[in-house]
Amino acid sequence: MICSKAPGKIILFGEHFVVKGLPGIGMAVSSYAKACVEESDKNTVLSKQLGLVYDEAGGVGFGSGFEVIFKLIASMGCSKRARAYIDSSIFMGSGMGSSAASSVALIHALMRFCGLDPSKEVVSRIAFEAEKAVHGKPSGIDNTLATYGGLLYYRSGVFERIDIKWPEEYSLLVVNTGIHRETGVVVKEVLDLYERRREVLEHIYRAAEELVNQALAMLRRGDFENLGELMNINQGLLYTVNVSCPKCEEIIWLLRRNKALGVKLSGAGRGGIIIALYRKKDLEGVRQLLKEESLVVSLDEQGVLSIS
Ligand code: MEV
Repeated sequence: MICSKAPGKIILFGEHFVVKGLPGIGMAVSSYAKACVEESDKNTVLSKQLGLVYDEAGGVGFGSGFEVIFKLIASMGCSKRARAYIDSSIFMGSGMGSSAASSVALIHALMRFCGLDPSKEVVSRIAFEAEKAVHGKPSGIDNTLATYGGLLYYRSGVFERIDIKWPEEYSLLVVNTGIHRETGVVVKEVLDLYERRREVLEHIYRAAEELVNQALAMLRRGDFENLGELMNINQGLLYTVNVSCPKCEEIIWLLRRNKALGVKLSGAGRGGIIIALYRKKDLEGVRQLLKEESLVVSLDEQGVLSIS
């Protein structure tokens, strides 16, 4: 079998404010979707977590990202059919980019299986088309991070890699609130609030921009001790635009009381995931305090990779 893996992601700074053209920082993290493919008489995708998610013969998963992927790869001259298996440790439906990571891993494995060159540019472009089938209007950050890995500063659809080494002493704790929210609905409510309270919120948005600029400078000089404080401020701004939630705040304050350097929600909010920056040595015992599932991750620098 031919296998590839691709990382999930978190948004370190700037979600929601990016929707109005301000900058954000996204980060590929060391939690992966793996895809393996082998020859078959029809195209199918079996997910270890979700079961059969696509079958070209059986009507399962039509109109999904998988159908787009198989069609685009066939249009590049691949006439072989494949049975694909996906296994992912990325929290699903939580803003960690699990669908983009699965797509990217699958595209990379399928292209190798078909004897095509899986250049990152092509993999990311096909994954973006698959994301559009699933999410309607994706920003492109998920497929870009799953493909290239790393930390990305982005603004209005332009992505710029922030080349840093993630220091050994620090980790991110990712907690799944288990609350599912529709990104589109939350984004619209924030935009409506902005229109109603423009004179107030303009200042909040300006603060969000300055925050991302300072975070970028801190990341570049490796000042992780102070970065946490900016995460706390970012959370305050997200609370102000009404995208936190009672359970989010419970988790955030539990972690803040237990040595986190900084804690915020990541993504659309009202649920989804909470991220906390920790000195590795302070993480011991913290996960046992949580009722929710959690992951300890760091920066993934490589993006999609062959694993066999
Ligand atoms: C969702 O992961 C991030 C938002 O900023 C929406 C977006 O950027 O498309 C809330």
